[in-house]
Amino acid sequence: MTASSDSFAWWQRPDLCYQEGQLQFAGNWVKDLIAEHGTPTFVYSGQRVASNIQRLKTALDATALRNRYTILYAMKANRFAPLLQFLQQQGSVGIDACSPNEVAHAVKAGFKPSQVSFTAGSLSRNDVARLCEFEGLFMDCDSLHAIRTWGEAKPGSDIGIRVNPGLGVSRQDNDRLQYAGHVTTKFGVYKEQFSEAMEIARQHNLTITKIHFHTGCGFLTPQLGQLDEVIRACLWFVDRCATIKRVNVGGGLGVPHVASDHPLDLSQWAAVLARHFAERDIHLEMEPGEYLVKDSGILMLSKTYLEKKRHTLFLGVDAGFNIAPEPAYYGLPFQPVPLIDPSAVPDGSLQKMTVVGNINEALDVWYEDAVLPDMSDEDHLVLINGGGYSASMASNHCMRGDFKEILVDGCA
Ligand SMILES: Cc1ncc(COP(=O)(O)O)c(C=O)c1O
Repeated sequence: MTASSDSFAWWQRPDLCYQEGQLQFAGNWVKDLIAEHGTPTFVYSGQRVASNIQRLKTALDATALRNRYTILYAMKANRFAPLLQFLQQQGSVGIDACSPNEVAHAVKAGFKPSQVSFTAGSLSRNDVARLCEFEGLFMDCDSLHAIRTWGEAKPGSDIGIRVNPGLGVSRQDNDRLQYAGHVTTKFGVYKEQFSEAMEIARQHNLTITKIHFHTGCGFLTPQLGQLDEVIRACLWFVDRCATIKRVNVGGGLGVPHVASDHPLDLSQWAAVLARHFAERDIHLEMEPGEYLVKDSGILMLSKTYLEKKRHTLFLGVDAGFNIAPEPAYYGLPFQPVPLIDPSAVPDGSLQKMTVVGNINEALDVWYEDAVLPDMSDEDHLVLINGGGYSASMASNHCMRGDFKEILVDGCA
């Protein structure tokens, strides 16, 4: 087998790397965090989230969009209360919420309803009644039903319309991460519905001041051409509605998951937005989740066993896909990382192993053929990219839903 330490060194960065042969995260020795908090535990770095936000702002500020955009954090990615409070104290983002409970949770963390933009589908009358209690909350309607129901509850208000351009953009065209495309989806109002949408809004005296779209997740630099086409298609809607003041371009910005991924080139991303919006009298909104929080978290685990079955060496850990479902649901691998620096280990002693969890389901595989040093004497392991869509999507499947979450370096 030709395995090299390069295959797992790609994720290292100043706040997540080996120092003196030991793994450090956000200024902490991971072995100390494990000794203090046990496993499975998600550790989030507030400073990493803050620097992810700052990187987005720097890229946007270098274009003509400076002072003409608002970043809304898609809290579905991670709703850990201390993290939300940290973001609220930082004051650099608003919130994208997708359920009445999320709005209430954001408000409890200190956000004003007027800092929250709501986009979700299949709303019941009860949902709408609860949302109406949050004075100042902004509603993006994703269907004719939503326009009608909101219009009945809040006639005379301003609304956004989530549109579906029939085109989407996602990581490597992963269709499980795509919300619009050749398959008809539930997300947003289609072109052929748009005049009816405007008519329903008119009947309820609603003013459409925003066009919203979010067509997929996880895109990196190679997909920016596709994003360009998505935006072009969405401008069709903008151009048909004279009252539009804002466009929400959604989230979807991805982070690297494997050695062959490169970080999203933010200046190219900002240039795509500027190309379409610099000359328009429009305020932009974007609502990233993954980009802000995913690489700000690690999942600390304990090894349960190491055993060769046929030609595969299995490394078992004390948590399964139910507490971080993305690898299983979307095929997004979470790189396993040992606590001791494998670059000190001769390449010849590296081995391939498949990291598996403790759930009785065939899809409970964290990472196939991970290249790792000999793990027989190791007790622990970390998975990277555990900061987004992990704990927030966790279930109690097999009654193995117990885990801890902690925020380190989260001082505003
Ligand atoms: C409407 C909407 N906005 C924003 C997001 C955040 O997406 P991401 O985490 O890919 O940035 C999502 C994710 O599902 C979404 O549905």
